[in-house]
Amino acid sequence: MTPLFEVHHARKSYAGRVALDDASFRLARGEMLAVLGSSGAGKTTLFRCLAGLATLDAGNALLHGEDVARLRGRQRRRIAVVFQQFNLVNRLSALDNVLAGRLGYVPAWRGWLRRFSRDDIRLALECLDRVGLLDHAGQRADALSGGQQQRVAIARALAQQPDLIIADEPVASLDPHTGAGIMALLSSICHDGAGGIAVICSLHQPELARRHADRIVGLRAGRIAFDVAAADCAESALQQLYGGASLAA
Ligand SMILES: Nc1ncnc2c1ncn2[C@@H]1O[C@H](COP(=O)(O)OP(=O)(O)OP(=O)(O)O)[C@@H](O)[C@H]1O
Ligand SMILES: [Mg+2]
Repeated sequence: MTPLFEVHHARKSYAGRVALDDASFRLARGEMLAVLGSSGAGKTTLFRCLAGLATLDAGNALLHGEDVARLRGRQRRRIAVVFQQFNLVNRLSALDNVLAGRLGYVPAWRGWLRRFSRDDIRLALECLDRVGLLDHAGQRADALSGGQQQRVAIARALAQQPDLIIADEPVASLDPHTGAGIMALLSSICHDGAGGIAVICSLHQPELARRHADRIVGLRAGRIAFDVAAADCAESALQQLYGGASLAA
């Protein structure tokens, strides 16, 4: 069976300096993968290439066997991206921000006029409900807390009806408690129901990866140092990943 998502020998350099070096891994439907690694390890480089925001120098990333670099239009919507800084439109309501996830599914003129169908609006409200913010549908994005804004961003991603959500440090701008709630939400999106959405997220908190992810990939100097079930991720492997620094501190 073709895995949902496969990365083969991904390589990327900036001005001759290798940022990503021969990285390969697979992701199944309904699986949550956390990518750990110290600053500069290549996490954002990897994620930008996987999301189609940058191109690999060599290797490829395949969604259902199709190269993500070649996905266009609706096909591209099958990969949704969640950012550290939420990237909402501040002056728009939570609902309108989530409806932005439907752009690409409606004709462009309808998008410009924000004329979404009743089905799109129903779907957007369901997505807001899924992230626990139905009551805030009409609230401006800039009147929401950081955690609520990230939930709206996740609802927007869900409104794309994606196969894969890519989240680069989705909790880095949040306090530990709120961040844990976002991780629990992403994990439940992966594991609930028959949807089978896969999530790949990067983190700087190994304990969140262990608690919420199914698998952990350790990235060090652009190379994959380990790829293990979260339950098998040893303290020693983490210490090596972070250059021997004590994680207990
Ligand atoms: N646009 C760019 N131009 C040149 N070099 C870059 C660019 N983006 C990243 N790099 C370099 O590539 C390497 C990997 O950076 P990257 O941002 O992927 O790391 P990261 O793991 O996401 O780090 P952090 O945890 O700090 O976000 C670093 O050496 C960085 O300086
Ligand atoms: Mg980064």
